[in-house]
Parts: sequence; C-alpha cells; structure tokens
Amino acid sequence: MEFQNSETKVNLMRAFAGESQARNRYTFAAEVAEQNNQYHIAQVFLFTANQERAHAKVFYDHLEQLSGENIALDGTYPVNISDQVRDLLDWAVHNEMEEYEQAYPAFAMTAEQEGFPQIAASFRQIAEIEHAHAKRFQYIIQQADKMTTGQTTAEQWMCLNCGHIHGGMQLPGQCPVCQHDKGYFVKLSMAPWTC
Ligand SMILES: [Fe+2]
Ligand SMILES: [Fe+2]
Repeated sequence: MEFQNSETKVNLMRAFAGESQARNRYTFAAEVAEQNNQYHIAQVFLFTANQERAHAKVFYDHLEQLSGENIALDGTYPVNISDQVRDLLDWAVHNEMEEYEQAYPAFAMTAEQEGFPQIAASFRQIAEIEHAHAKRFQYIIQQADKMTTGQTTAEQWMCLNCGHIHGGMQLPGQCPVCQHDKGYFVKLSMAPWTC
C-alpha cells in the first residue's frame, strides 16, 4: 500500500495530535498541582509531559515524506479541566490506559496490515510506555491517599526544593530547612538521582 493512501498516515497524525495535547494537558495539570502546593505531583506531570513530547516526535518523524502536505482526520480528544489535582490524576490514568489498551494496538495492527512494520513497532513500543505512565499516575494517587489518611510507609523523604532528607513516618507541615510546604516532600526512593 502506498503510504500516501494509507490509514496509517492518518493514524500517525491522530497520534501526533493526541501526544501533543497530552503534553499540554500535563503542563496545565502541573500548574494546578503547584497552585495546590503539590509540587512533587507537578514534577511528575512535567516529567511525563516531556515524554509525551518525545512520543509526538517519533510519530511526526514517520510522516516526513509527506512534508508540506496537510492531513485531514476525525478524532475524539478529552476535555479534562479541573482545579482538583485528584481529578487530573484520575483522567491521566484513564487516558493513558485508553492509549495502551485500545488506540495504539489498533493503530499498530493497521500499520502491520498495510505493510509498515517499523511504524507498527513504534505504536507498540509507545503503547508500553503509556502503560508505564498509567501505573506511575496510579501510584501517585495511592501515595496521595496514604498521605491523606496518615497511612504513610516511607521512613525517609526528600524536600524537592532544598534536598533536605527527613526521617520518620510523619511529615512536618513544612520543610524545617527551607520552610517550603510539605507538598515538596517525596519518598526518598522516588526522588530523582537518589543514590
Ligand atoms: Fe505518549
Ligand atoms: Fe503517556
């Protein structure tokens, strides 16, 4: 099948649009998390947003031979607006799972049938990453719930603002070193570059 006439060409543009929107949604979600003093959750959203950007580039690059043309498509994309971080996390899990379980496997199968195995591989590989994203957001939800109910299990925490390491099951209301809100603390095992 000619790439020009393929459904895969359209699916790549659908995926590029979806990844681009996910990147923006997570960037907006990070702003909401910061406004709610949940700085560590903001960092997770920004980290994931950058990975969505990388996915967008993988799909976009597969379209290179059509450079200069426009691609028409239909599609459905989510509206997920809330000032509640929990809503944003729940929607993130849902959307990641939808990509992992439905959209990208279907796009991969079409690409395979149309004779584009490398593009099919990209859809499958990125589907696996979206699964990891869903699990990461799910874990963040579980941790937030434990914090709310006082069932924390961590013994060491890092303040993501100043790097102070706090020992104990309970967090202080704010960091004793830099006075930033306790929303800056993350389990030490989840802190970046911990060694
Ligand atoms: Fe993605
Ligand atoms: Fe994702």
